[in-house]
Amino acid sequence: MGQGAMRATSAICSAAIAAFLFGTVAYGAELRGHGGPVRAIAITDDGLTAITGSFDAKAIVWSLETGEAREVLLFHDGQVDAVASLPQGRFASAGADGRIAIWESGRGAPASVLEGHTGPVVGLAVSPDGSTLASASWDASIRLWPLAGGEPLVLEGHRGNVNAVTFLSDGTLASAGYDATVILWPPGGDGAPVRVAIPAPLSTLLATADDRLIVGGADGKLREIDREGTIRGEITVSTGPVTALAASADGSYIATSSVKDGTRLLDAESLEPIRTLDTGGPVWSLAFSSDGKILLTGGADNLVREWDVETGQQLGSSAAEHADPMAAYTGGPGAEVFRACVACHTLDPDDGNRAGPTLHGIFGRRIASVPGYHYSSAFRQMDIVWTPETVSKLFEIGPSEYTPGTKMPEQVISNPEDRAALIRFLQAETD
Ligand code: HEC
Repeated sequence: MGQGAMRATSAICSAAIAAFLFGTVAYGAELRGHGGPVRAIAITDDGLTAITGSFDAKAIVWSLETGEAREVLLFHDGQVDAVASLPQGRFASAGADGRIAIWESGRGAPASVLEGHTGPVVGLAVSPDGSTLASASWDASIRLWPLAGGEPLVLEGHRGNVNAVTFLSDGTLASAGYDATVILWPPGGDGAPVRVAIPAPLSTLLATADDRLIVGGADGKLREIDREGTIRGEITVSTGPVTALAASADGSYIATSSVKDGTRLLDAESLEPIRTLDTGGPVWSLAFSSDGKILLTGGADNLVREWDVETGQQLGSSAAEHADPMAAYTGGPGAEVFRACVACHTLDPDDGNRAGPTLHGIFGRRIASVPGYHYSSAFRQMDIVWTPETVSKLFEIGPSEYTPGTKMPEQVISNPEDRAALIRFLQAETD
């Protein structure tokens, strides 16, 4: 294990370099690549791909089979607060800038941008028939965007920040806000919305597999609400606000996170706590794998971790379980530092690009010169030749300062010995 060579400047604190273990079997990686806390996670229906959004203003698309970062999506001004998996392999991201970007794989820029919200967008949900994207905004509105294109329907009714939206199976939309209200909006605008007053401001909301609504409050309580708006039950999960909620598609579990009391798995029926996950620091985002066996947590340490739901153990924490992507490289201190890069960069001539361009032949290469790779416009306009000195400088002061506007997530290697070891490793492996 490494000695804490990497530091993410925007994070509360980054863990010492942890084993980055993934390989032949599905799941088991620790997804390392964001340069800030991970605020949102969504998984595709086939369970093979995840999209994450971060305070670092980026969204990253990950292969859950290999743990590789496939694409870094840079578009938003400010943090990405919400992500969604859309039909036909598309994704949505939204955030502090009030815009929603729709992404198609491999394009490097949004396929379309949905504009209209005048405050941050912090929640996204896709309708059961896949035709509509709902967005929750701090501008106090909800918008229903037809995914085939066209003007959105604007839903107004909350008095203050709308924090979460979700759909029930018949297409009814539910929204929860800081105004301590849940609103049920009938599909197609037929009939009056049902307003439900809750005794606390609301941060999160979900619909379970069997169509029950659970809201999480600033008072640390989860409450179950029925279609008529009756509160059917409540349970205290924390003394502080609930930060994230997720339900497994098989109907077994609900996962809940709070800053004060960590991440818990509850029985989806009774809401009784079953186990607590040892996530270390605060968790801001949760998602279950499509088969319900794995829980992904995104946290203040910039990492996404994967947990076995039945045992509560973190996956990939034992080297025996999974192939080590670093096994191809001879060990040593430089290889340990490169663990922070391996999700996004390959080194061998035949391995091609991941979310970042191949680093094969990096020394002596001009910036942004790998053919076919979608560099950021910032990178394309810079005049740098990569040498041991410039690559070292890149991580001494960090990509956001050395290459402003880059889509490479922020990371700083503050220890000069670690930088020197990384450079020696790259010289040996990229030649
Ligand atoms: C989350 C993915 C990610 C991680 C982790 C990452 N990078 Fe990058 N890297 C990128 C992307 C994306 C670019 C292209 C930047 C752009 O177009 O703005 C890039 C560009 C680069 C470049 C310039 C390449 C060129 O062709 O101009 C170097 C050198 C580099 N990275 C080295 C590293 C090293 C060393 C590490 C680990 C300490 C690292 N990167 C970690 C995504 C990543």
